[in-house]
Amino acid sequence: MDPLLPNPGGQLALDEIVGREREIKRYWRVLDRQSLVLSAERRIGKTQLVKKMHGIPREGFVTVYQDLERVHTRMELVDSIYEAARDHLNASAKVRENILSFWQAYVPKKISATELPEAKAQWKNHLCKAIDAVLDEIPADHKLLLIWDELPLMVDNIQRGEGADAAIQLLDLLRALRATRPRLRFIFTGSIGLHLVLRALRAAGNANAPTNDMLSETVPPMSEAEATELAERLLLSLPFPPKDFRELAATLVERVEGFPYYLHHTVNRLSWLDHQPEPSDLADAIDGLVLADEDPANLAYYRDRLAKHYSSDEARIARAVLNALSHEAQPMPFEALCNLVRHASPEVQDTAVADVCGLLRQDHYLTLEGGASSPRYRYRWAIVKRWWAATQR
Ligand SMILES: Nc1ncnc2c1ncn2[C@@H]1O[C@H](COP(=O)(O)OP(=O)(O)O)[C@@H](O)[C@H]1O
Ligand SMILES: [Mg+2]
Repeated sequence: MDPLLPNPGGQLALDEIVGREREIKRYWRVLDRQSLVLSAERRIGKTQLVKKMHGIPREGFVTVYQDLERVHTRMELVDSIYEAARDHLNASAKVRENILSFWQAYVPKKISATELPEAKAQWKNHLCKAIDAVLDEIPADHKLLLIWDELPLMVDNIQRGEGADAAIQLLDLLRALRATRPRLRFIFTGSIGLHLVLRALRAAGNANAPTNDMLSETVPPMSEAEATELAERLLLSLPFPPKDFRELAATLVERVEGFPYYLHHTVNRLSWLDHQPEPSDLADAIDGLVLADEDPANLAYYRDRLAKHYSSDEARIARAVLNALSHEAQPMPFEALCNLVRHASPEVQDTAVADVCGLLRQDHYLTLEGGASSPRYRYRWAIVKRWWAATQR
């Protein structure tokens, strides 16, 4: 087994991306017939997973990987397609060269043209052309997979900068492209759910369901076997590798519930020790991850996201729900939860609590257990729960 240095939050080389075999196999099967929306909480490993798919593409697919987090306008999206086709296209040098020469012939016109307001309206043509240029160059029996990482953030950026109409038009065009280009596939990944962005768009206009031709999936934590392999490899990279690394790895995986980012972080903290880690060191490292002043795992994200994407009423109820559940050892029945929320805000109705709990489930804060007859809510992640209980009121 090869040791693997901890690199929490960093970009990994292909051979450092452990496992994800089950998900990858399943996603390729879906992509044979349709496009995919992958959502899940930040840092669960979406980017590494899709980069592995890009790094080891399946026969019959040409893939392009694009990080859209910093794209703010529709024209920037067009540019980023060309840039990615140049730098991140998994195709032969010849194909890349052809796309590049098309791009070079086209780009001077495009850039001067986009400065004119009337030509700005041409973004649709530019976008179609960018995608068709790649489709035309790749082998005719190959599909083109555009992996668009953090698409919801881009749509949110566009909505805030160019307006809700612009964002809706873009999503509609992408849908039309999927319907009319049978060799085109997308993976949209997102840490803020597309549902939050669409909700804002619907409030502002008439976004319908612009991705309901795509299959939506939640990326799960790593399987126990894969998380264990990752934990063992990380522990073996320590300056003082523990003899009982298998036992420590099993405990670590259990404590962080197969969340690879926390595995990297915890072992990173263990790397500061001047001795082989003991179980008590492991417990301290996890405590530090949750409670250290500098918030190493950036858990405040779970608080800040509410302020950014929930209305102020929803955020208030959400905080009350999360406060109440953070101090409960057991999953809580809905009625009890409502009563606790009303301790904080007496006027809140059950229906409002139910709506917010629905959002919190979609946003991976909570899970629902017990079926329709006795629904009970609990935190999805023990680490987040501990952080919330210790720091939020
Ligand atoms: N399959 C994996 N193998 C090894 N480490 C991983 C894996 N997936 C995620 N990680 C770790 O978790 C961190 C966050 O993963 P990332 O893919 O960036 O999450 P997301 O895109 O969901 O926010 C990575 O920087 C890495 O430290
Ligand atoms: Mg990512």
